[in-house]
Amino acid sequence: MYLSHRPRRLRQTTAIRGLVRETQLYPADLIYPMFVAEGEKLRDPITTMPGQFRFSVDELVKEGQKIFELGIGAVNLFGYSTEKDDQATKAYDPNGLIQSAVRALKKSVPDLCVQTDIALDPYTNHGHDGLVVGDEIVNDETVEVLCKMALSHAEAGVDWVAPSDMMDGRVGAIRHALDQAGFPNVGILAYSAKYASCFYGPFRGALDSAPKKGDKKTYQMDPANSREALREIAMDIEEGADVVMVKPALAYLDIITQAKSEFDTPIAAYNVSGEYSMIQAAAEKGWIDPDRAMMEMLLSIKRAGADMILTYFAKDAAKLLKQHFGKIL
Ligand code: PBG
Repeated sequence: MYLSHRPRRLRQTTAIRGLVRETQLYPADLIYPMFVAEGEKLRDPITTMPGQFRFSVDELVKEGQKIFELGIGAVNLFGYSTEKDDQATKAYDPNGLIQSAVRALKKSVPDLCVQTDIALDPYTNHGHDGLVVGDEIVNDETVEVLCKMALSHAEAGVDWVAPSDMMDGRVGAIRHALDQAGFPNVGILAYSAKYASCFYGPFRGALDSAPKKGDKKTYQMDPANSREALREIAMDIEEGADVVMVKPALAYLDIITQAKSEFDTPIAAYNVSGEYSMIQAAAEKGWIDPDRAMMEMLLSIKRAGADMILTYFAKDAAKLLKQHFGKIL
């Protein structure tokens, strides 16, 4: 048969496939989200997220060194707070959990990019990302607390703060607060298009942070909307975000691609807990090859347009990438 094009010609060997491969994943693309808890010598396994732990600060530091040696770009810290109240006062305690973790990490692994979550849910007794008055999650009052939280992290030496709360105007307010306090070099990784998603379930188990009442639909986005995501992203860029995020990643690859073509600001995607735990659960049952599933998913997120990926797979993926450099698994 005469065919002027035989696309299979370019798939014949590993070497040829390598030559025409369009997307490469590197450990430096990855950000490892980690959970910090009170205590010492603690590596407390998270049942809803097999393979993930809550670390006490001393263990976090040890883990941080390994992560840095693997070439992973950054860590993103979440606090597992047992002291919760309705004002989230522990969120901005200068000697709080995250503030101490940042200080310890920056001291022992200074070149690791340390990022912190900015939102109130791990510190509120009702589990919402903002302050609650009556049935309302109040915006402007929450933004004030978020600014105090970001400042306390900046004072501890954080590289980037990452507001995940979805209050209006918080990126601009945090930028302003940081600049005023003499922290112009602290970056903002904004959760710009964060959807009200069921895929956060395992994470809320990890932090014991599920909302006690209601849901997060008045601040997180409706999964049905994409133009709204672009509007949110444009606003955060306008307000001073250094990097904008789409979250979750897999059910929102189209949003990542649209954001990539619309804006020239770097784009992060969050491969969230549910996306991670689904693979672990299927692997436990022997239904899926977890390494191949992980690499295929991460590659798809990068191919869609993400410049960086927050993922609980960061360590496993970085190890595999080192072993099989340049090969698709
Ligand atoms: C809350 C927050 C959530 C995640 C990151 N920050 C959960 C939520 O919005 O309820 C989810 C991360 C994940 O599922 O991996 N500020």
